Parts: sequence; C-alpha cells; structure tokens
Amino acid sequence: MIKLIQPEKKILTCKDFFCTESLPKPTGIIIFGASGDLTHRKLIPSLFGLFLKDLLPKNFYILGIARTNFTDDEFREKIISELSNEDNTSNGDKIQAFSKRCFYLSGDYESLSLYSDLKWSIKSLDKEFYTDRNRIFYMAVPPDLYTPIIDNLGDLGLTYDDDSSYSRVIVEKPFGFDLESAVELDKKLHLVLREDQIYRIDHYLGKETVQNILIFRFANSLFEPVWNNRYIDNFQITVAEDLGVEHRAGYYDHAGVIRDMFQNHMMQLLSLVAMEPPASFDADGVHDEKIKLFRSVRKFPENELNRWIIRGQYGAGEIDGKEVVEYRHEKGVNPESKTETFATGKFLIDNWRWSGVPFYMRSGKRLQKRVSEIVVTFKHVPHSIFPQLSTDNIPPNILRINIQPEEGIVLSFQAKHPGPKLCMSTLTMNFDYEEVFGEKPPDAYERLLLDCMLGDQTLFVRDDVMKESWSIFTPIIQNWQNEQELVKNELHIYPSGSWGPMEADELLQKDGRSWHQL
Ligand code: BG6
Repeated sequence: MIKLIQPEKKILTCKDFFCTESLPKPTGIIIFGASGDLTHRKLIPSLFGLFLKDLLPKNFYILGIARTNFTDDEFREKIISELSNEDNTSNGDKIQAFSKRCFYLSGDYESLSLYSDLKWSIKSLDKEFYTDRNRIFYMAVPPDLYTPIIDNLGDLGLTYDDDSSYSRVIVEKPFGFDLESAVELDKKLHLVLREDQIYRIDHYLGKETVQNILIFRFANSLFEPVWNNRYIDNFQITVAEDLGVEHRAGYYDHAGVIRDMFQNHMMQLLSLVAMEPPASFDADGVHDEKIKLFRSVRKFPENELNRWIIRGQYGAGEIDGKEVVEYRHEKGVNPESKTETFATGKFLIDNWRWSGVPFYMRSGKRLQKRVSEIVVTFKHVPHSIFPQLSTDNIPPNILRINIQPEEGIVLSFQAKHPGPKLCMSTLTMNFDYEEVFGEKPPDAYERLLLDCMLGDQTLFVRDDVMKESWSIFTPIIQNWQNEQELVKNELHIYPSGSWGPMEADELLQKDGRSWHQL
C-alpha cells in the first residue's frame, strides 16, 4: 500500500479548525423543538463542539422552546448529563459554562401566548448577553409547524433585520412533500423572509468528506482535465445504512427513501461530483452551477420507469448476526405499507461533459453495512502495448471517495509486479482521513451552524435548486402511488442484511456493469 506523505505539522496543528476568516457576531440561537431528538443528538453537541473550539462568539445564548414542561435548570441538567460522556471527560468546567448560556421556554407552538413570552425572553436575553439583536431561529420541528411558527415570528417583528442586526431561520428537511407542496411552503416563507434569511439545511453538505469533493476537484490540476466522458466510464453513488426505520415510522412510512434521501442528500452528492467549476466558491457561484446541472438531469420516461429506477422494501433478515424484522412489522408501520426503503436509479446528464456517462445511485435501509461512497470508474486504456494483454485485461483506474464511516480517498492504478517477468498488479494509493489528520471529522452540524452565524449560505440549499430537484422526483413518486402502475414498477422485497433486491443489480448488468464491492 502506498501512503500519502503526512502533511506538514503546521497544517495538523492548525488551531482555527475551520480556517474561517472571522468569528461570528454576537448571536442568540433559538431552537424550536428543543426537547426533541435532533436538538439533543446533534444541535447541542455541535454547538458545544464550537464552544470548545472557541468558534462561538463570546456573547451568545441558546433558548430552547418546546411543548414539554422544563424549567431552565431542568433543561440545563439534561444538557449537562448528555454532554458528560467519554469524549468530554476533561471538559467538566466547559460544560458548566456552556450550560449557563442555555435557557428554556415551554408552550404550544400555535398559541399566541408562547410568542408574547418568547418576545419578552428574547428581549431580556439580548440585553443580558449583548447579542445586538442578532438571532438564529432553528426549526427542529415537524414541517407542518414551519409556517405557523415563522408567521408568528414575523407578526412580532422578530424576523426583522437591518444593516446592524440579522435574523436568520434554519429549516430542516423534508422541505415539502413533492414539488407542489415545496413551492407552496416556499411561497409562505417568502411572505415573511427574504431568501438570504432562509437556510435550508442538508446535513450531507456539512460533512467534511463531502466538502472535500470540491477541494479535490478544483484545488488540484490533476483530476479536472480527465473529469469528463472521454475518460470516465461511470459513477456509482451509494448511501447505505444498516439501521432500519427505528422510531421514525410515523414520518418515514409517508416519506420513503426517495423523499428522505434522493431528493436531498443523493442529489447534493451528485451535484458536487458533476457540476462545472463555479465562478467562485461562494453561495451564488456554487448554487448557479448546481441549478444548471439539475436542469440537465434527464427526466425518467414515465411509461418505462422500471428501466431506470428500481424500488425495494426490506424483508426480515440478519444484521451483524442478529435477526431483524421486516419493514411491515416495524412499530408504527402500516402492515400493508408500500413505502420504499431502497431505490437504485440510473441517472443521465445531458450536457457536453457527461453525455453518455451513467450515474448509478442507490440508497436504502437495512443493507449489509453503513457506508457512503462515490466510486468513479475510469475507461480502459485506449490501446495496449503489452503483448498478450488486451485493453480489457488491464483493469481501469478506480477512484473511491469514502464519505463515511472510513473517511478518505483511494485511487487504484496498475504497476509492474517485481520480478524478471512482465507482470502487472493493481495498487492503491490511500488517504485515510483519521490517519492523516489524527482525528475523526467533526459533526456536519458544527460547520453548518457556524456558517449560518457567519451568514454564508454556500453549504445550504437555494430555493430554485430545491425545486428543480423535486421536479425530477415528483413524477416518480406520483407514478409509484398509482396502483395501475404497480405491476410494472414492482416493489421488490429484499432481505435485511443484503445489498437490496437483485433487480438493482440487473439495472447495471443490462449495461454490462456491476456494483463495486464496498
Ligand atoms: C437523514 C434521513 O436525513 O439522514 C435518515 O432522514 C438517514 O433517514 C440519515 O438515516 C442519514 O444520515 P447520516 O449522516 O447518518 O448518513
């Protein structure tokens, strides 16, 4: 194995982890849905992660809002006990200091009294912490609450900002249920907020390895010249999970993998590997290229959808030696559910760069293991100068971008095997993130929360990009809901612990290809 040379120490000890030019301004962070899973699993630990790295402004507070009745002290105790884990054994004082900035307000999201209490609390916290009326409102609530909450904030003037203060709203996915509902929701938000105040989050964009795709492509002169249909045969983008639906059946059984993963995360991965170089690395530069790319994605023909996209649902099976139940027997799932927990699609991009190059994408739950990877297969050499070896005998170069869990990049190429005869073998050049940088990448939410405080929307989703993505997937979802189409577009049951239904493999076999082993 050939290893990358370690970067200079200077880089490894870089204190300012994100290398941001400036620290965020004083800010109040107001989280709706503060007793929920997202807040406690992601938001609070990520805000604490920023606090530890001195990347939160000196003047900040966190105000959690939810229906559950907590006092400030109870909320803090919960935070302290959750943060006091094995990663933070030496951070006891920091946890105490962080928790002192956390406050809580309980109430019903649709009752006016909550908002008058909120206005009062925000005013007094702004004063106490000198946050200059800079506020971030985080919607960690079910999507049907976005509009009532934002309307109320607007009515109270809390979304007002000017040159001396800002008011921003972070909106979680799912953003809409299909194109129509997404357009509708967007219209409602725009009655209260400008586009530059809306931060549509896709946490995949905050992943270190996902951000690295643009650095890899556009900060090296080596790859971009071959990054096209002359040299690349195909892309395979996989986001596989071994977990099942867990406790989220209420949401997932109405969503399915297309809404949950393809319309957002998968399309964002596609955009980063396939878009043209942006004019500059800023929000509009990047979003302009994404929208151009999404407009070039060929729409699937509705009358022969099954030739382009395959759907599946997990049956019973084994994961890590343990038996697991079929999707329809999961708690909260309709026993006759036709929701897809897996899909594989063959996407084509009709532009000069990618004409003829298939992008195979697959994602699903209860697959063999948790792995997200982009595999780029280059074309065979055009001609073999080696006697007895045809071009087909010489394996193509393969580039693997490991998004998670073993973050890194692996490039395979051919080399002469030592010895008096002419023998060839395939070697790999391996960049392992943890080995090189000495630590696992930070959670995606750290980067995204920091960017929102800094007013940088580059790693968020602009409204036109979000809508264009829905316009690719809405016809598919609608077609799958049509009972008459069910025979043609069968829902294939696959065993838990497999790589999905065999029809997903056949989609590639028809093109003379197969999935790379992950
Ligand atoms: C979420 C989906 O957006 O992403 C989940 O709603 C999925 O269903 C999750 O499990 C996967 O994220 P990650 O970061 O664990 O790959």
